[in-house]
Amino acid sequence: MSVPDLIGSLRLLICVGSGGVGKTTTAAAIGLQAASQGRKVLVLTIDPARRLANSLGLNRFGNDETRIDLAGLGMAEAEAKGGQLWAMMLDNQQTFDDLIKQIAPNTEARDRILENRIYRATADNISGSQEYMATEKLYDVVGSRRYDLVVLDTPPVKNALDFLDAPGRLARFLDKRVMKWFLTPYDEQKVFGKLLMGTSAVAFRLLGHVFGKEFLEDLSVYFHLFRDLYDGFRERQEAVVEMFNQPTTAFLVVCAPTEPSLEVAGFFLDELARRGMPNPGVVVNQRHLTRGEALDPRAVLGAAAAEAASDLPPHTASQLLARLGAAHKRLRELSVREDQLITERLRVHMHRRQVLWSIPRFEEDVHDLPSLARVGSYLGRPGTR
Ligand SMILES: Nc1ncnc2c1ncn2[C@@H]1O[C@H](COP(=O)(O)OP(=O)(O)OP(=O)(O)O)[C@@H](O)[C@H]1O
Ligand SMILES: [Mg+2]
Repeated sequence: MSVPDLIGSLRLLICVGSGGVGKTTTAAAIGLQAASQGRKVLVLTIDPARRLANSLGLNRFGNDETRIDLAGLGMAEAEAKGGQLWAMMLDNQQTFDDLIKQIAPNTEARDRILENRIYRATADNISGSQEYMATEKLYDVVGSRRYDLVVLDTPPVKNALDFLDAPGRLARFLDKRVMKWFLTPYDEQKVFGKLLMGTSAVAFRLLGHVFGKEFLEDLSVYFHLFRDLYDGFRERQEAVVEMFNQPTTAFLVVCAPTEPSLEVAGFFLDELARRGMPNPGVVVNQRHLTRGEALDPRAVLGAAAAEAASDLPPHTASQLLARLGAAHKRLRELSVREDQLITERLRVHMHRRQVLWSIPRFEEDVHDLPSLARVGSYLGRPGTR
């Protein structure tokens, strides 16, 4: 199966993998490919490399959905069919604010929480929430059906659970039983009154001595307001979990051909399988792909080199060819070693129907649309390129 075949039937594709392997690059390349098939695509990205963000025009737009100009890529036909590429960078604080605006029961509750100092100080970090915010945004854009396909680039999480469990973690954070501890004194309007009873009251008085009354009041208001939002969060959390389980959702594991990265990829493959999450395959990016056989540069380049270097001392040309031969040999060894690692560390975690795509390491960073198209060209049927 090729990635273009695969994405034809999807509404949501999630790229996961360790740091710096090319998740953002792959997500953007797949987005571009889907747009070239006439689909309207959003790539939801996190902290793309600056040069890529710049050349996509993302730096100016922050948290907004931004349409990428595809002029000059020969895609007029696809565009006429509705092919569009959109991208958006996730901004935690902004996403959380938007979420609160949507689910707050009234403008007063909304303003109180948005202005709350503790909310302002912690929203960016709430339950370690970049992954959670990604799922929130997903719920928003996938649910709105504004796009035929959403490709989600994820943060380089060390533990797959962080991402897959994000909705569950927030629910635990908002667990009413936990919040009760903070809420009770506020509810009774007796935070610092004389009739405080029970453990939380005592604890609050103590904390009040340490942190000051104002801080505690802010804290109490904060939890109180979150309690009002709890049902909204829950509903959305359930919808997001449901979305992950739809047949139109798939996960793609992205890795580099290095030991640590392949190890993380193996972990993701196992974890996705254990959770029954659809995972059609793995992209191994940045591979050193040689043309296979050992080359004798003297045989391949000898005549041309002799002609080009006719004004050089004869041994210079021969030395250069020897060095070229040595470099090719090293590259070939690296390529064989990578093959071995992939067999030993990755294949063993894959089942027969999963596909392995390989993208070579290019000389230059992938930082513009033509180079993304080049990356995308390696995601066809393996072996057909
Ligand atoms: N096949 C490739 N050949 C050459 N450079 C590449 C290739 N793939 C990615 N890069 C470059 O490697 C860098 C890291 O890629 P990218 O940002 O896509 O990785 P990432 O997995 O999203 O990283 P992070 O975990 O930091 O988000 C970028 O500068 C990108 O241009
Ligand atoms: Mg990235």
